[in-house]
Amino acid sequence: MIDKATVQKITDAADIVEVVSDYVHLIRRGRNFVGLCPFHNEKTPSFSVNSVRNFCYCFSCKKGGSPVNFIMEKEGLSYHDALLHLAAKYNIKVEEKELSDDERRQLNERESLMVANEWAASHMEKDLRDTEEGRSIGLQYLYQRGVTDEAIKKFRLGYNLDGGHALVDAAKLEAMDIQSLTQVGVLGESQKMPGSYYDRFRGRVIFPVLNASGKVVALGGRDLKGGMAKYINSPESAIYKKSNELYGIFQAKSEIAKQDCCYLVEGYMDVIGMWQAGMENVVASSGTALTDGQIAMIHRFTDNITLIYDGDAAGIKASLRGIDMLLAHKMNVKVLLLPDGHDPDSFARENTPENFQRYVKEHATDIIRFKAQVLLKDVGDDPQRRTNAIESVVQSLAHIPDKVKRIVYIQECSRILGVGEEVIEGAVEKLRSNVVEQQRRQRQNSQIDSMDQAARNPQPDVSHQMRPSKSREMLEDYPFYPFERTVVYQCVRYGILDFCEVEFDDGTTDMINVAEYVADEIQTDEIWFTFPAFAKTFNQILDLRDDFANERVTFNVSLEKEKKKMLKAGYDEIAAKDMSMEEIRRAERLLEDSVGEEISKRRFEFARYFVEQKLSSHHDDDVRRTVTEAMNEEQPLSNIYLRNNPVSERKMEIDRMRVLVPRSVLEWKNELLNQRIKSKMKQLQSLDPVSQHEILLEIQALMEKRGQLGKVMGDRTIGTKFK
Ligand code: UTP
Ligand code: MN
Repeated sequence: MIDKATVQKITDAADIVEVVSDYVHLIRRGRNFVGLCPFHNEKTPSFSVNSVRNFCYCFSCKKGGSPVNFIMEKEGLSYHDALLHLAAKYNIKVEEKELSDDERRQLNERESLMVANEWAASHMEKDLRDTEEGRSIGLQYLYQRGVTDEAIKKFRLGYNLDGGHALVDAAKLEAMDIQSLTQVGVLGESQKMPGSYYDRFRGRVIFPVLNASGKVVALGGRDLKGGMAKYINSPESAIYKKSNELYGIFQAKSEIAKQDCCYLVEGYMDVIGMWQAGMENVVASSGTALTDGQIAMIHRFTDNITLIYDGDAAGIKASLRGIDMLLAHKMNVKVLLLPDGHDPDSFARENTPENFQRYVKEHATDIIRFKAQVLLKDVGDDPQRRTNAIESVVQSLAHIPDKVKRIVYIQECSRILGVGEEVIEGAVEKLRSNVVEQQRRQRQNSQIDSMDQAARNPQPDVSHQMRPSKSREMLEDYPFYPFERTVVYQCVRYGILDFCEVEFDDGTTDMINVAEYVADEIQTDEIWFTFPAFAKTFNQILDLRDDFANERVTFNVSLEKEKKKMLKAGYDEIAAKDMSMEEIRRAERLLEDSVGEEISKRRFEFARYFVEQKLSSHHDDDVRRTVTEAMNEEQPLSNIYLRNNPVSERKMEIDRMRVLVPRSVLEWKNELLNQRIKSKMKQLQSLDPVSQHEILLEIQALMEKRGQLGKVMGDRTIGTKFK
């Protein structure tokens, strides 16, 4: 854990223009900067960086946020690691919070395993080039398979000398921890002679497996002599869970996001072959079936995946294996079969990159269509096999969460399979509820699992990688979602600004801010935010009141100093000029006006951006995401207007806030009344006359209230409290 003060120091230091400039060539445009969006492919810049708000966003793909958020997305890091990344950039010393002995031990263990792997990988990278044996055997082998120097460097390929003790000796010489090297499987311990070690990867070409942050978590070693095991790999350890890693993800992730598509292949060499053919958005599952964890990792960067397999029988079978899981993850899945006997590596060697890329474009087929076609081809005249094939397709269809998408596929499969649409649809919908229930149970189990695992093995927090949910689903569970969203977004924008004066029972008055006004209004009608992320964010905004009051004092002090400095510089400049008394007075008045204007502008901006400054780098994913989305959605005022009229900009914002916030609250309340009336109406049908009368009275009261609300909304007057 990084303590709060250090987090503050980091977020204060991190300058959005500097941070983004490491990735994007920025051009100044007025108060802002623009550049080509680093999250998707584009030719005209829609990525905008606002230095005043210390915030960036893409008008087109909507990504961006505070410096921390930007680094998280761009580097695929957790919140914690993104902070460390920025701390390193700005030379800020980070002292992590005291960990318990147990946590420290686990962290130390992970750390020393990482160190062991990194040491071994770089040692063998060097041996590939710097030793005679490395060059004549390892490098020779790679060249012969068409691997370029560029790829060798990019994928950090290496060679383990064949003697059997090259790494053992080097480790001893450099005082590396033998135990750690053994745990990650770089060294093996002799069974006959405990305490005596050997190089486990001896005589092999090395493929380091990097996790999404670029750390070496495992090694794979390719045999060169026709031995028993073609590849040997690192054993699972505290830092390596095979089913959670994808070979190539570190090298591919930014390209996956950019292309909005990921190619999935089987092996180490396939990744390298595709990469060399110019398709850098490629990862390998390393010969095993895809897992949930791997899909989730890909899903962080894109919704679209294309599986690439050998066109032989085994390849076809493999391609059908993981599809239900992919569909359930809401991925758009395509499959591509290479000509029989080819894997991507061999195909890349026999074709130019252009031809390969064209082949991929032309042959990628939608997975469901592919499955229906393949299965149908197999069945011949056998009715039982035909039934099995249809059932299997139905099974896949039932895994598609999106109803509209499901229907489109049902139509298509009905055509391919020659079975009536209603028949398939009936079967699919029947199965669908089973699938949903099964997924729910799985989710529950895996939640318990991961809680369990987290307790044993603290992992970086990755929940931010979940994509924001679509509002259509939100509507089913949270009928007031759109109303709550509007209000909470407005509170992100205006929450801390003064709203109105209120009088308390004891006769004292106090100024309440916008968020407090909202809280007061909705509590009166016994409403609160039901969508959890909004409730959390809103509470955070309410909590900022004291921070704001305190920090405003400090801010004003420094602003006063700044004002004096600006005035003094101006007076000095005027004094240095040769002017009449009259001219001097006029110049001084002008100076005082413009300094006053500048100071009040800064004071306004401090308040106006306080909420987003505080919360856009918040550690809680829900809060940070809500705030970032609110900021993203904001329509900036026309630049031309602002340039000519800086004072009215602020006035307009305040005016807008005074109209918008009460109106959104009213609309929310109005919807609530509608819902209540509706449900009362329903009750009415099933009641005896006496109770009916009571309900009718209630409905009448509700309608009256709705009428009043409607009048207020129509008049656009804003109640009496805050006139
Ligand atoms: P392949 O047998 O297709 O190997 O296994 P490959 O990648 O094409 O290798 P080359 O081209 O013969 O050098 C696919 C993947 O399965 C894993 C590796 O990750 C491999 O890349 N595998 C395969 C092993 O881990 N061990 C093995 O013995 C074989
Ligand atoms: Mn191969």
